[in-house]
Amino acid sequence: MMTDKIIVMSDIHIVAPGETIIGLDPSARFAAGLAHALATHPDASRIVLIGDLTHHGAPEEYQALRALLADVPIPVHMTLGNHDRREAFRQVFPDAPDVAGFVCENIPLNGATLVLGDTLDGPPYPAGHHAGAMCAARLAWLDAALGAAERPILALHHHPAPILFPGMDRIALTNGDAVLDIAAKAGTQQMIFGHVHRTISGQMRGIPFAIFKSPCHQMPMDMHSTSSALSVDEPGAYGILCVTPDSLILHTEDFTLGTAPAVDDPHSR
Ligand SMILES: [Fe+2]
Repeated sequence: MMTDKIIVMSDIHIVAPGETIIGLDPSARFAAGLAHALATHPDASRIVLIGDLTHHGAPEEYQALRALLADVPIPVHMTLGNHDRREAFRQVFPDAPDVAGFVCENIPLNGATLVLGDTLDGPPYPAGHHAGAMCAARLAWLDAALGAAERPILALHHHPAPILFPGMDRIALTNGDAVLDIAAKAGTQQMIFGHVHRTISGQMRGIPFAIFKSPCHQMPMDMHSTSSALSVDEPGAYGILCVTPDSLILHTEDFTLGTAPAVDDPHSR
């Protein structure tokens, strides 16, 4: 069985043309990351975008995203994050998956199943509310989806348990315990999240997890700040999820660093 490679990008944060985030152009960053991923991994089977597709949830931002994805030759799967707005997303992506109104999907891979869940809390969308939630309808779907999955891999925007960044833990998944109960019961093999904009890995309830950087702006290493809005211009990245018959491997690529020439030094490891 061949390895199934999936490109993972989170927190794209598309803005209107001419706008920037800490001086960075999210559309240019996403386009560069996408081009880098497709050129470097022509054998990738699909792309998964795990929320914060746009910065303000505006229809023109989703239209810009749609245009950036127009020439992608492999399937693209998406769910939403706290910066998204479900109604505007559906206006522009009317064929997106719909589970009781939510953008949730069960994606069969070669040797595993990726369960992609929508953790956007709303509507309504109170100003400044960035925590996530999975309502009863989504929890019921999650239970069935993970229960039926082959080697389940769970992908969500919000993290379901603290990662020890106080600012980000304030806006985590508010009912993460319920999600972890379901994930653990189903024997989930791996969880992947976005939201934090920083490379983090570990385990929650014994289930391995990984959090990926944004292709655009990142969270600094600050385990004391109570702000959820800290951003730093560190290299942009995407992830590569590899499903093999025996293992799940997660790589991350800082594509904005460029490619330094590799020196084949036999004593360098
Ligand atoms: Fe984000």
